[in-house]
Amino acid sequence: MKYSNLGKSGLRVSNLSLGTMAFGRWIDEAASAEILDRSIDAGINLIDTANFYGKGQDEAFKYGTGESEEIIGRHLKGKRDKIVLATKVGLPVGQYVNDAGLSKFHIHREVEKSLTRLNTDYIDLYQVHRFDRRTPLEETLSALTELVKQGKVRYIGCSNYAAWQMAKANGLSAFHRLEHFICSQSQYNLLSRELEQEVIPFCQSEKMGLLVYSPMARGMLSGRYTSKADLPQDSRAAKGEQLIQPYFTDQNFERVAKYKQLAEDQKVNLSQFSLAWILNQPVVTSAIIGASKPQHVTEAVAISDWKWPEELMGAATAL
Ligand SMILES: NC(=O)c1ccc[n+]([C@@H]2O[C@H](COP(=O)([O-])OP(=O)(O)OC[C@H]3O[C@@H](n4cnc5c(N)ncnc54)[C@H](OP(=O)(O)O)[C@@H]3O)[C@@H](O)[C@H]2O)c1
Repeated sequence: MKYSNLGKSGLRVSNLSLGTMAFGRWIDEAASAEILDRSIDAGINLIDTANFYGKGQDEAFKYGTGESEEIIGRHLKGKRDKIVLATKVGLPVGQYVNDAGLSKFHIHREVEKSLTRLNTDYIDLYQVHRFDRRTPLEETLSALTELVKQGKVRYIGCSNYAAWQMAKANGLSAFHRLEHFICSQSQYNLLSRELEQEVIPFCQSEKMGLLVYSPMARGMLSGRYTSKADLPQDSRAAKGEQLIQPYFTDQNFERVAKYKQLAEDQKVNLSQFSLAWILNQPVVTSAIIGASKPQHVTEAVAISDWKWPEELMGAATAL
């Protein structure tokens, strides 16, 4: 396992992180615990969750109910010091107007709930889940700064921010002497490359860490899916994952078939190939894998220090 600094901070994180969006939603507690243990034993030190992750996302009301944080909290006993615990705030967690967003009201209330569920006194990385157009950024940044001063949060990060939003936040933090976001958490994979336009150059220029989510395109880059109409029975898409649907295009099915061939030529499977492509992008600090089985962790760890042949990078990127 490789470790590097997260952005300009001194915090060292593994180049693979464990994503827990499916804990308590599609993965039950016992299986979640096995995946957690397998990851920590392999040297993965960054665990990513959110107050939003849990069963509630699949209910008609569609707000977060916190089961992922609760499971992590129960299973981190005796292991807390080994890991960098990252969670998020901002997506809806209730039906009332202040049950979402990045106001001081919401952030201060939600951090307490996350600390309780996570069974810890501090969060290592507290991330704002997405930009909140209704709340002044100064209010969000000063609420987060207060949490750092209180010792409830160690570092702050943002997720799904556009480059201009991060630039504005960094400028405000510098001007008002507030905490800075040390990293961005954003979607990036062989099939989704929008980040290359603005966010990646911004992170490189400002030395912000980049945590990549959905490195396997929510499972599309596992190669399990061959058509939209024929979903493997135990797959996430069959369990109701909506956000994989945009990946199901004819062009993507063709690209996946070509990537599969390139992967076979390298004697690795398509999941490993897709992950290795991400890990070989110099801007990426860590890829957050959404393992749904302990074996997925083992396969990811096996490829985590694979050096890509230069000529293959060109071929894969051009597809
Ligand atoms: N900030 C945000 O807005 C945001 C959004 C999304 C995700 N995230 C974070 O990123 C994490 C990862 O996202 P993700 O779950 O979309 O990531 P992903 O790694 O792209 O997709 C995970 C899915 O890929 C399949 N898979 C993974 N490893 C495999 C392997 N070795 N072989 C075959 N199939 C494999 C599994 O599908 P099956 O289960 O179908 O087999 C698994 O559920 C989340 O848990 C969360 O922490 C953040």
